[in-house]
Amino acid sequence: MRSEGLSLGLVLLCLLRVQAKPLGTAEPDASKVAGTWYITAMASDSKTYLEKKDQLKMAMANIEVLGDGDLNVSFAIPTPERCMKFSSIYKPTGNPDEYHSSDRGNKTVQLVNTDSSSYMVVFATREKNGKKLKMLRLYSRAQQVRPKIISLFKRFAKQYGFTDETIWILPTQEECQLGEP
Ligand SMILES: *[C@@H]1O[C@H](CO)[C@@H](O)[C@H](O)[C@H]1NC(C)=O
Ligand SMILES: *[C@@H]1O[C@H](CO)[C@@H](O)[C@H](O)[C@H]1NC(C)=O
Repeated sequence: MRSEGLSLGLVLLCLLRVQAKPLGTAEPDASKVAGTWYITAMASDSKTYLEKKDQLKMAMANIEVLGDGDLNVSFAIPTPERCMKFSSIYKPTGNPDEYHSSDRGNKTVQLVNTDSSSYMVVFATREKNGKKLKMLRLYSRAQQVRPKIISLFKRFAKQYGFTDETIWILPTQEECQLGEP
């Protein structure tokens, strides 16, 4: 009887721990992710991206944390054809630091690593023709990124299965920017 009571207590303790973690981390730390970012490096397994990779340049993103914990992410992405501007709403999935958007296809983003100030590494997936495409992005507060952070990004990209040929650093550009937030 006594040992049963004890193990029930342990089970409850474990349940409490399991519950406490997602609750704590699902609440986004606004100062950590909010505001304007430059997308300074990328890794992708998308054929379309890889074919165009020499023409791609640095993109911008602005992240607003909404009252309910959703993220409103506005992008300015220079493509060879035009400056693409759009925003998407991402909702927390319940997994730590992971968000989902169905605005433009089925997409997820997950915060992989950050120093809470100058950079963050974000893993993104997108569904295209029933296939899941994977992308790792380096978000930086400044257009110039320290070599140490680039190396760190490359290490994460390798962990996610990307090879050197599918990792690239994006050159700066002035033509396609977000307005002042
Ligand atoms: C998201 O941000 C865009 C650009 O600032 C804005 O136009 C849009 O109204 C915002 N959406 C929500 C739900 O806040
Ligand atoms: C989006 O992806 C999730 C998880 O892979 C899946 O359960 C869901 O059915 C997908 N939704 C659409 C609209 O494709």
